[in-house]
Amino acid sequence: MSTTPQMTGTPILILKEGTSRERGKGAQKANIQSVMAVVESLKTCLGPKGMDKMLVDSLGDVTITSDGRTILDEMDIQHPAAKMMVEVAKAQDQEVGDGTTSVVIIAGELLNLAQELMEKKVHPSVILDGYREASEKALERLEEIALSINPKDKQYLNKVAMTSMASKLVAGNKEQLADIVVQAILHVAHSDGDGLRADLDDIMVEKKTGESMTETKLIEGVIIDKEVAHPRMPRRVEKAKVALVNRAFEVEKAKFDTKINIESPEEIEAFLQKEEEMLRSMVEKVGSAGANVLFCQKGIDDVAQHFLARHGILAVKQVKDSDMEKLAKATEGKLVTNFDDLTSSDLGEAGVVEERKIGDDEMVFVEGCRNPKAVAILIRGGTERTVDEAERSIHDALSVVRDVVQEPKIVAGGGAPEIEVSRAVRDHAVNLPGREQLAVMRFADAFEAIPSVLAENAGLDPIDVLSEIKARHEKGETWAGVDVLGGVVGDMRKIEVYEPLAVKKQIVKSATEAATMILKIDDVIAASKMKAPPMPPGGGGMPGGMPGGMPPY
Ligand SMILES: Nc1ncnc2c1ncn2[C@@H]1O[C@H](COP(=O)(O)OP(=O)(O)OP(=O)(O)O)[C@@H](O)[C@H]1O
Ligand SMILES: [Mg+2]
Repeated sequence: MSTTPQMTGTPILILKEGTSRERGKGAQKANIQSVMAVVESLKTCLGPKGMDKMLVDSLGDVTITSDGRTILDEMDIQHPAAKMMVEVAKAQDQEVGDGTTSVVIIAGELLNLAQELMEKKVHPSVILDGYREASEKALERLEEIALSINPKDKQYLNKVAMTSMASKLVAGNKEQLADIVVQAILHVAHSDGDGLRADLDDIMVEKKTGESMTETKLIEGVIIDKEVAHPRMPRRVEKAKVALVNRAFEVEKAKFDTKINIESPEEIEAFLQKEEEMLRSMVEKVGSAGANVLFCQKGIDDVAQHFLARHGILAVKQVKDSDMEKLAKATEGKLVTNFDDLTSSDLGEAGVVEERKIGDDEMVFVEGCRNPKAVAILIRGGTERTVDEAERSIHDALSVVRDVVQEPKIVAGGGAPEIEVSRAVRDHAVNLPGREQLAVMRFADAFEAIPSVLAENAGLDPIDVLSEIKARHEKGETWAGVDVLGGVVGDMRKIEVYEPLAVKKQIVKSATEAATMILKIDDVIAASKMKAPPMPPGGGGMPGGMPGGMPPY
């Protein structure tokens, strides 16, 4: 129950019983603390020497990952402000596919430093303006230091993919996987106006446990995680003519309850024969259209399977909706609902359709498709958890390579661009008046967190490393950063640690947006249904759930 004092001193109730409320500085402090709790737990994951997290969901399923977005997703965060960080990580992932841990660390640092300023009586609106102005400068500097490359230069694209995988469980296989990822993206890239475009939806990613990760392969075609429907059907069809049917291959059942009175065995026989006849004619329609392969989105009647096998047609049933669409795109066939409509012009084409045994299961490979852009990656790995993490890492790698293909500019990794951002913002701050200058300066400080955390996670002294990098940048070494694997400060061009400019720009935008959004909140009103913990004396309470809980105010 919240109250508001009236001139007479009698409280007026404006909110429902059980509603909790946190206002002003208290709300800001509580929000920032909850975000910091998230940041602290993510910090140790940053970079090639970062740690992984083991997350267990309510059903006992275990996920092992160092991917920022996945960790936040699985953490089941309750605090509303901390939840906003989850949203930011998600947005970062959707925009550019990498840099989610960095964005959370920088946003946390921006908030932490804002808190210090607020304690020194700097008004949040001054901080907000300062941060926004600083972010413009940061973006300008990133553009200045970026290196323009040829978007089809495999050398650079490979290195960018490897940097994104260096910090993941798959790091040991990064050369081979980077090669696959770059080939896949270049395969689907097409010109669009001035530049190139690549759509990740055009790349199919399938995973199967068993074998080692070195068996991960690029397939020029489509993979369907199903087996051929009937043992008598062919296992391999060359020069395939593919029918794609998105209805059940069976005699249609009546839509309402029907009763058929059968009085003699002959009638049963006739009835069954009629049904068989209908199925036979459906199969014949597929055959006479010229198809030798059939993919069906629904089930295929046993009798129909038998007839299909007799026609030498390779058929696959219960194919996923999304796979049917990929097949249509790859083979350039048409999805057909009505068998009567099926003609030879609806059929797709593929060089070969073949069932192969992968691990313990059979999968159907459709290769040499009419559309030469069709491509798939088949991920292999020892356990389910390794293939899951490999899938996430390959998604990051595909995203960063796509980013560079679409915007062919790269910057260094290892915290080098963050230091350049920091320097440019600080230079700009010098000319600003008093309090605004303080806010812009804090923005510059926040970006130093990246090299500092990278060093810390690598077991190096963050203060020493940071001062050495800063000194070298002062001397004009724009590419100096933390060589995490070498354990020294080095030139990132020498160890070829490159990242897309797009990812770094998005980190600046997302982190600024998250920090300003949270700073702008000065009143948190939580409805009672969220089961707020009991109010601490003299103040509001917030729904708990974060490690450390809410501080009492
Ligand atoms: N060999 C390397 N030497 C130095 N720094 C590296 C190296 N490889 C990667 N990095 C740095 O590691 C950081 C990326 O770490 P990580 O991939 O864990 O986090 P993220 O990309 O911010 O988030 P996520 O991948 O979880 O979405 C980048 O700053 C990158 O430059
Ligand atoms: Mg990354």
